[in-house]
Amino acid sequence: MNTPRELEVRLGARSYSIRIGRDLLGDATQWRPLLRGRHALIVTNTTVAPLYLARLEPALAGLHWRALALPDGEAHKTLATTALIWDALAQLGATRDACILALGGGVVGDMAGFAAACWMRGIDFMQMPTTLLAMVDSAVGGKTGVDHAAGKNLIGAFHQPRLVLADLGTLATLPPREYRAGLAEIVKIGALGDAAFLARLERDAAALDARADDPLTAAIAHACACKAGVVMRDETEQGERALLNFGHSFAHALETVTGYSALLHGEAVAIGMVLAARLSAQLGLANGADTQRLATLLAALGLPTQPPPGLDADALLAAMHLDKKKRGGGLRLILWRGAGAAFIAEGIDEAAVRAAWAC
Ligand code: NAD
Ligand code: GLY
Repeated sequence: MNTPRELEVRLGARSYSIRIGRDLLGDATQWRPLLRGRHALIVTNTTVAPLYLARLEPALAGLHWRALALPDGEAHKTLATTALIWDALAQLGATRDACILALGGGVVGDMAGFAAACWMRGIDFMQMPTTLLAMVDSAVGGKTGVDHAAGKNLIGAFHQPRLVLADLGTLATLPPREYRAGLAEIVKIGALGDAAFLARLERDAAALDARADDPLTAAIAHACACKAGVVMRDETEQGERALLNFGHSFAHALETVTGYSALLHGEAVAIGMVLAARLSAQLGLANGADTQRLATLLAALGLPTQPPPGLDADALLAAMHLDKKKRGGGLRLILWRGAGAAFIAEGIDEAAVRAAWAC
């Protein structure tokens, strides 16, 4: 019998649980009772399907269900790929009480969630994250969507899942680079608003790098709880939720300019956080020692802290101007006053941002 850690995301009629534990996919009692209708579509990808799809299948006996394995990779996080999900729902004859089970990382979860948000103007979906990044970030909070050639996640919707089921056993097969990318989003939670958590991560850095069970489970649960708290206070990003984008304006520009291929999202976030911290210091808002502290932690976790050489500064700035966080004139960025103290900064001068990129 598995007893997962359970957190609640309380959003009225859209409330749901986050369950974190081992062997949860194969334990039908954890998720099967939440299926409301007769139709279920498992959306996964060609990498995750051979690893974990079979764990879900026995519990679906008696339902009309099928599984769809999408091509793997951020390059496929598009409307064209999402249309394959809608095609599968149509072939299944999915009604309004159908449910999508999103089994995979953030790419699968974002796309499956968006497909669920749109099909018949909104059906249920469950997040079954299999990457560390998806467990601590993308599966929680109901942001769904796809990329456009002009920028990342430009097409999307808020649509909360019915359940987040984080089966920690799936992390055993996650490649080291992907695992570290997830650690970046855990560091982000400390960096933006929880200095004590950041200090704990510094203390546990070697153990986290080695995927040690206890510190990893504790870090995942704490990061999820912090994110859930932010989402409960500001579901649709009218204010505080924007802080979760610490480092992301820089990161999205890096991902856009490098064609979503050179850097993993978490790696881009690691670099972006250092750039946001550096810009804060250059603007006299924070101590430069905090930038160094953040970079040291990220490096200890095996993450990059500098942009790749040779990128076009004009293209990076143009991508930042298109980022969703921007409103009106000037750049709107998440900066910090130091570890654990991020804030929303409006009208940031482009020249200062250019200088931060150039260091
Ligand atoms: P991903 O979904 O591409 O997964 C990374 C790689 O790991 C893929 O190749 C995948 O097939 C593979 N994989 C997944 N689980 C595995 C496992 N258990 N074992 C072996 N391989 C496995 O990337 P990601 O880092 O999970 O997510 C990144 C995406 O999440 C980006 O598109 C980003 O924009 C999005 N995101 C969304 C939010 C949100 O709030 N919705 C937040 C953060 C990031
Ligand atoms: N990853 C940012 C958010 O969920 O708001």
